[in-house]
Amino acid sequence: MKIDILTLFPEMFTNVLNQSIIGRAIKNGIIKLNVINFREYSSDKHKRVDDYPYGGGSGMVLMNQPIFDALKSITKEKKKYKIIYLTPKGKTFNQEMALSLSKEENLIFICGHYEGIDQRIIDYWVTDEISIGDYVLTGGELPTMVVIDTVARLIPGVLNNENSFKDESFYSGLLEYPHYTRPADYNGMKVPKVLLSGNHKLIEEWRLKKSIELTIKRRPDLIEKFLKNNKFTQKERE
Ligand code: ADE
Repeated sequence: MKIDILTLFPEMFTNVLNQSIIGRAIKNGIIKLNVINFREYSSDKHKRVDDYPYGGGSGMVLMNQPIFDALKSITKEKKKYKIIYLTPKGKTFNQEMALSLSKEENLIFICGHYEGIDQRIIDYWVTDEISIGDYVLTGGELPTMVVIDTVARLIPGVLNNENSFKDESFYSGLLEYPHYTRPADYNGMKVPKVLLSGNHKLIEEWRLKKSIELTIKRRPDLIEKFLKNNKFTQKERE
């Protein structure tokens, strides 16, 4: 997958995404990252990228010209690309959206700052407006990294174990069960016996039970959807 990022702070991406699992995927060529400082596209002699908002109000707005020119330089046929703008006004990001984006060949991210970007950039270019939650950050870089990290690990070959994301929170619609590793007894705190039993069927049942209990406690909103997507008898439901 090729990922283009338009930002005023390119080092934020190179410093963070070149590490660990995503860093390895970049080295292996599974992901190609192209970070563009759109200030370089500004035709202003002072390389200005923002201006006062029409109609007044506080803050500055990122203007059309540098972002339009940067996008024109990296796209051939506009229709072929998913162009994502991170904004608190967007649709709230979730695992389902991540899975769908992970199947794309090319993603382009626009990172806003200040009061945001000129609406005409959104109207002309943007295919998806995404929010990472109901709170406001100072810029689009961190939310863009959240989306890239979530999407990238779903691309085949990025995680060592292809199945490792299938067990975890949200994949099944439930929160994930607890994990334990050695020793079996740490200062009197014991690992649940069933996990030492070697009985895979019992372990699977225990994990499902724990997942359901945790989801009911923390995210009751997820349970209804889970029950709808999985067929259970009335007895099993109770
Ligand atoms: N930019 C600022 N806050 C944001 C948020 N919550 N989600 C996405 N982009 C943002």
